Amino acid sequence: MSVATVSSGGSGLKPGWGVSPERQQAVMDTMRRLAPHSGRLSPAQLRAITVTLAGHRELWADLVVHDPDVRWYLPLHRSNSCDVWLLAWERGQDTDWHDHGGSSGSFAVADGSLIEQYRVPSGRRLARRRLALGEAVAFGPGHVHDVAHGGESSATSIHAYSPPLSAMTYYSATDYGLIARETVAIDGPEGARGRGGADTALARATASAARLTSDALPDGAPVIDELLAEARSGLTRLRPEAAFAAMTDGAVLVDIRPLEQRIVEGEVPGAIIIGRNVLEWRLDPSSEARIPALARPDVRVIVMCSQGYASSLAATSLRRIGLTEVTDLDGGFQAWQAAGLPTRPAQALG
Ligand SMILES: [Fe+2]
Repeated sequence: MSVATVSSGGSGLKPGWGVSPERQQAVMDTMRRLAPHSGRLSPAQLRAITVTLAGHRELWADLVVHDPDVRWYLPLHRSNSCDVWLLAWERGQDTDWHDHGGSSGSFAVADGSLIEQYRVPSGRRLARRRLALGEAVAFGPGHVHDVAHGGESSATSIHAYSPPLSAMTYYSATDYGLIARETVAIDGPEGARGRGGADTALARATASAARLTSDALPDGAPVIDELLAEARSGLTRLRPEAAFAAMTDGAVLVDIRPLEQRIVEGEVPGAIIIGRNVLEWRLDPSSEARIPALARPDVRVIVMCSQGYASSLAATSLRRIGLTEVTDLDGGFQAWQAAGLPTRPAQALG
């Protein structure tokens, strides 16, 4: 299955995802009257597209599938200029906080109602609005929002993005505001899991990766699982209770998680925070950037990350530069917290 690709001449449609070529052509004909065929579209142009298509029920109503288990979508159109998607929403379904990479966008409610929480432009304040049938939102690349099903009945919406969506960053809502958590190559709009294969950057990268064979890799290069197993073979890892006991006996817990992860997850009282990117320079006894009290071969360091994977590689790196008493926390902060050991919210300055 492939997405419809539209050449600059307007031909070259391929059937895909259960949307007939005639239907794709009808969508294109409707859009042609609303916005230029190429180039980057403005939020106002995208709004015209989503509102108009939402009003043309004959273009999409028979295609909608409402699934209570997973948010459903269908690509309706894609060109180099923009992509258009049909989404269905059931009670309890929402997107989580996200942006749209560098794309502008718009969505219009075609059935039911939706609730949008969004970050007010040029501020940290969050706001909320309910969107009824026929209403639409349009936004530029900086827009961050969380869209949810609203009301009692099923909802349907039409979404358009320009340039076509290729990546989205997800955010966590914290006491410090929205904190970027992860950027993902998207395989559908609004983080939805849909039917059929969309011709996205992720789909192309996945197809390309599937063609990679071990012949394409350098001779003898370990895969990450092998690298991790090799690292752990040289460590006597500590479960949280054992690490806690070691700390009361003078061992130092070193937290290498990034700030945004500490804000979201919390911290361990008494842990020393050293970013992973400077870890070796802070603990190498011969480094000018060392922390003198810690950069000693005899210091007992327990490296902690979120789940206990990156910490094994970090601890092994420290052992290689002569800190032979270094190990890591098996299961990371999450296991520590699950064991009921002391934690606290991330500490703010001032
Ligand atoms: Fe969105």
